[in-house]
Amino acid sequence: MSAGIVQAAYIVAAVLFIMSLAGLSKQETARSGNYYGIAGMAIALIATIFGPDAAGTGWIILAMIIGGAIGIHYAKKVEMTEMPELVAILHSFVGMAAVLVGFNTYIDHGDLTGALLNIHLVEVFLGVFIGAVTFTGSVVAFGKLRGSISSKALMLPHRHKLNLAAIVVSFLLMVIFVKAEGSMFALILVTLIAFAFGYHLVASIGGADMPVVVSMLNSYSGWAAAAAGFMLANDLLIVTGALVGSSGAILSYIMCKAMNRSFISVIAGGFGSDGAAPSDDVDHGEHQEASAEEVAEMLKDARSVIITPGYGMAVAQAQYPVHEITDKLRKKGVEVRFGIHPVAGRLPGHMNVLLAEAKVPYDIVLEMDEINEDFDETDVVLVIGANDTVNPAAMEDPNSPIAGMPVLEVWNAKHVIVFKRSMNTGYAGVQNPLFFKENSQMLFGDAKDSCLHILEHLD
Ligand code: TAP
Repeated sequence: MSAGIVQAAYIVAAVLFIMSLAGLSKQETARSGNYYGIAGMAIALIATIFGPDAAGTGWIILAMIIGGAIGIHYAKKVEMTEMPELVAILHSFVGMAAVLVGFNTYIDHGDLTGALLNIHLVEVFLGVFIGAVTFTGSVVAFGKLRGSISSKALMLPHRHKLNLAAIVVSFLLMVIFVKAEGSMFALILVTLIAFAFGYHLVASIGGADMPVVVSMLNSYSGWAAAAAGFMLANDLLIVTGALVGSSGAILSYIMCKAMNRSFISVIAGGFGSDGAAPSDDVDHGEHQEASAEEVAEMLKDARSVIITPGYGMAVAQAQYPVHEITDKLRKKGVEVRFGIHPVAGRLPGHMNVLLAEAKVPYDIVLEMDEINEDFDETDVVLVIGANDTVNPAAMEDPNSPIAGMPVLEVWNAKHVIVFKRSMNTGYAGVQNPLFFKENSQMLFGDAKDSCLHILEHLD
């Protein structure tokens, strides 16, 4: 394949990637967005593998077959609830790839001299630094999402000074690296510092801020890929990396705004947060319980119902019976709507995906801002496996780790039914005073079983 055809193929692939992002921004067009992305990636791979710069095509194809087989195996096996972990670990691969590409192009940088060599060395240094931060940051995010590392923020003494020291030392090393026209020692040293920096940056971020971290790492992985593109002089990798990097940064910004968090604070590893401890020793009083039959009766008498799903609905796969309940109530003339918190579940748009999968009509699924003022005119709210996203402590307790995060104000409704299995806390690890309010009742059990029991009594 000639260089001209490869460039033309790269332009087509870049356009398809942009169309893919545009498609993925709306539920109705998300599927076609995926197809554009797949087509773009197929064109990009074929053009790269059979282009004039490729060598060892047989080895590349062998590696692709092995990698593809592992990918297909995991894609088939992974549960929807494990998607964020999978995304986090995939980001770590991009980071590691950038580190390896950096070392590779440093060792074999051809016959560059003068300014061109300096530019190349800066590209290598930055690529390795960003890649290494992305690698360990993503591994920590993976551990926190999987529950193998505590979701609480790591509060080392002088943690901001440590971060600043890592950046300053890395910058000085870059100057030394370029002045010496390359130094393996400096490159290895900055890799180790960046590994530690990435670990610390993500470890210092507390539970409820993890969604922003995952999208930030998404963004970092894009910049790491763009850096690899510069090192390899591959235009498509630069464009693709920049698309991933900027869309991840925009998503992080949107999520920070939705969660009332400072963007700078989150990307700087919790900078500005004082690590306040939750007021765990507060006596919230007694909770009340309801049976599925009682909830069914309550729903039959209601005029308006809002359902606020959360992570527990995903775990229980309760979206199908939830849809059936919705259908039955709507046929009886009850107004049923859904209220979706921007970080409900474990990945952006998690609840929307589940509800779309169960074919819940889009027009009754509303964002938090669109529905938050309607709770006081609502008869019954069904909180299905949600916890942090409906926790009034975010508004009432300034010491809470989720203080300041906007939440669904479900307690303003006449009756609130909370579907969960126990009185355990949610992802952020803080108790929820909602469960003890006078108008709240707990419906204990797996959310899917509870919904099925309610359905039995709805006729
Ligand atoms: P959470 O606060 O995580 O609470 C989920 C609740 O579901 C738990 O309290 C759990 O209580 C219950 N549950 C689990 N399995 C269940 C089952 N089979 N049946 C019934 N209930 C079940 O959920 P949320 O309100 O959706 O909040 C999301 C949290 O995750 C936020 O803190 C958010 O910051 C964080 N987070 C979000 C994302 C994104 S991007 N959305 C990414 C990472 C982290 P029991 O154990 O008592 O049943």
